[in-house]
Amino acid sequence: MYKYAIKGGHPIHGEIKISGSKNAALPLMVASILTDEDVILHNVPSLLDIDVLIKLLDRLGKKTEFKNGTAIIKPNNRTDLEAPYELVKKMRASIIVLGPLLAKHGFCKVTLPGGCAFGPRPVDLHIKGLEALNAKIKLNEGYIEAKATKLKGTTIDLNGKYGPTVLGTDNVMMAATLAQGTTVIQNAACEPECEDLANMLNTMGADIQREDNGTLIINGVKKLHGTEYTIIPDRIESGTFLAMAAASRGSLTIHNTNEKHIESVLDILENIGCDIKRNDTTISIKAKKHLKPFDIESLPYPKFPTDLQSIFTTLACTINGTSSLTEKIYPDRFMHVPELIRMGANIEVSDGVATVSGNGKLLSAEVQASDLRAGAALVIAAVCADKESNIHRIYHIERGYEKLEKKLQSIGINIKKIKDNIL
Ligand code: EPU
Repeated sequence: MYKYAIKGGHPIHGEIKISGSKNAALPLMVASILTDEDVILHNVPSLLDIDVLIKLLDRLGKKTEFKNGTAIIKPNNRTDLEAPYELVKKMRASIIVLGPLLAKHGFCKVTLPGGCAFGPRPVDLHIKGLEALNAKIKLNEGYIEAKATKLKGTTIDLNGKYGPTVLGTDNVMMAATLAQGTTVIQNAACEPECEDLANMLNTMGADIQREDNGTLIINGVKKLHGTEYTIIPDRIESGTFLAMAAASRGSLTIHNTNEKHIESVLDILENIGCDIKRNDTTISIKAKKHLKPFDIESLPYPKFPTDLQSIFTTLACTINGTSSLTEKIYPDRFMHVPELIRMGANIEVSDGVATVSGNGKLLSAEVQASDLRAGAALVIAAVCADKESNIHRIYHIERGYEKLEKKLQSIGINIKKIKDNIL
């Protein structure tokens, strides 16, 4: 295991290039299951989650050559239609192989992903959607077993207790591309990653349209062909670096981003006193010394993303006054809070709301990442803290931030990745 040792206390300055989106790359790579032809994807980030997916795809009939951000995915000779526990437990997004395997091969077996550090993470909506398409699904010894002689289009409402489901929408959308007739997905997720998947599938010969109210209309086709496609930039990585610049009262320019995907985030940063300059693919931020406290709620796109809630909690700690962060997608996603408290933060969590009484200071400490975004929140806290902090269990962070150490060094942060004896 490794840890980050970060000597904080200085504003960040400089420029970085944002990587391709992890949460788009995963479903787009999985979409290769729907065709027998080659799929070439550009702007794929090099991350632990991508490595896990490459191993999983190899079991499911696809061999991936991945070099310099380009993944070439070709058929191999395997016909194993099972996503096993040892891979799915490493990455719960593996559940999205369910829809495409079913559509292409009429059968699949995927281990139930279970919960994660921030809550139970059910998959009932994925199952409901695929059953509506005529799949027969049973749960057997921890596995979802799905069969379908022919998937049939229908109208499906994918709204859940906490709004639409991103990967559930992806699963049903991919299955519906090869179903007989038309599928209408009401309350489909509208996240840019879902849009990117729909756009890519259309380049493969699918017929997917999005109505103004977000409903997806998918006319099934007989076959999908190969494609060459470039994945969107990572909006959560963009938001993380912008928040880091604000929290350290620094300035930063991020390239290869898409400002339209993070409007809610940029609005908040502007409202609290950051100077933001944006064009389509580049955003510059310069933070004033005194920023204003804020209140945010995480909600489905285009509202503020849950994946930046922990990160903005750290930002709130650096601002004098009371801020509140309401988590409406995962009410228990506050694993970062006890660690931030160890760094001197004053935060109370009650009923899905974190109330931060910021005093402008964070103190260095030994802390540990409990999940990807909680870990990113601690990195920002360490950048702002007075002396050296050590962040343990950084494998969580490496699941989703490409070349983080190098990027941080390039904007003036004293960070080292070192062997860790604390498990
Ligand atoms: N939900 C259900 N039933 C379901 C599926 C979801 O009740 O069948 C609930 C969830 O428990 C949650 C809400 O619906 O309360 C939304 O969950 P969603 O299904 O949209 O989450 P996901 O698709 O599993 C993706 C991202 C997450 C991100 C969420 C929300 C990927 C690989 N993961 O997860 O990203 O937080 O959407 O935007 O795309 C991350 O990158 O750190 C991360 C966790």
